[in-house]
Amino acid sequence: MERSLAVSGATQRLAGKVALITGGARGIGESIARLFAKHGAKVIIVDILDELGQNVCEAIGLEMASYIHCDVSVELDIENAINFAVKEHGKLDVMINNAAITGQPKLSILENEKSVFERVMSVNVTGVFLGTKHAARVMIPACSGSIISIGSVSSTIGGVADHAYTCSKHAIVGLTKNVAAELGVFGIRVNCISPYFIPTSMGISVSKNRPDLLSNTYSNLKGMVLQVDDVADATLFLASNESKYISGHNLAVDGGFTTINPSFGLFSRAKVT
Ligand SMILES: NC(=O)c1ccc[n+]([C@@H]2O[C@H](COP(=O)([O-])OP(=O)(O)OC[C@H]3O[C@@H](n4cnc5c(N)ncnc54)[C@H](O)[C@@H]3O)[C@@H](O)[C@H]2O)c1
Repeated sequence: MERSLAVSGATQRLAGKVALITGGARGIGESIARLFAKHGAKVIIVDILDELGQNVCEAIGLEMASYIHCDVSVELDIENAINFAVKEHGKLDVMINNAAITGQPKLSILENEKSVFERVMSVNVTGVFLGTKHAARVMIPACSGSIISIGSVSSTIGGVADHAYTCSKHAIVGLTKNVAAELGVFGIRVNCISPYFIPTSMGISVSKNRPDLLSNTYSNLKGMVLQVDDVADATLFLASNESKYISGHNLAVDGGFTTINPSFGLFSRAKVT
């Protein structure tokens, strides 16, 4: 769903920047691509859903957006995508590691298969590692850049998603912190954004086709429901110069879900009879 808000040249926050977004063919990644282009960035969408990705680029405008097929778990694919950004636009300013998959909806670890666990780690962790590595390869000589990975509430707490997904999302926060420690000396910032549930294709499948149950479960911010555009807004902040002193951070976009425990205490939602 596209926002109608137009952004004038004077208020564009990524004017002249080049951004690559993995998993940008739909969902959160698509929203980030659309918002970044509105703010003046040339965007490169990479995904394995070629038709959808190409359609998003055409909707944005081919002078602002281009699509490349890339499986983030394949190093050559990532390498080619980053090289394309540099060949077409001369640089890469912003790298968004957004592509991810979920694991098996099987509660018992005894029923979880090693092959599925490894595939989730391969896309969600190795994919973020490769995206970060090859972005750093071209950002280090330029001595600037912003690398942002999309985590989850499952980056900091347990019991929300399957084992492999939770494990993978915790891992990328560790990678974010470690790479931020290394790349700060080159003026490169590395951060993570961790959203609550959103009814995208991934969200709907996780919710077993009842996204309303999850969207309505958490009501710390009364009357508000998290949208993909809210995550895109947070990503724009971490991509832009407004966050120039923020690095190694995991920004929760979850209305307090991972920091507030409403089960008892001063602001308890539990009914005391
Ligand atoms: N939807 C939610 O509730 C939610 C909540 C917290 C975090 N997230 C995170 O947000 C990010 C985006 O998720 P979404 O909800 O938009 O999901 P989505 O399934 O709608 O989009 C994910 C995109 O990644 C692509 N992708 C998957 N595997 C890939 C691969 N190997 N190589 C390249 N692209 C690949 C998919 O084709 C798809 O376009 C993910 O990192 C997800 O973990 C989602």
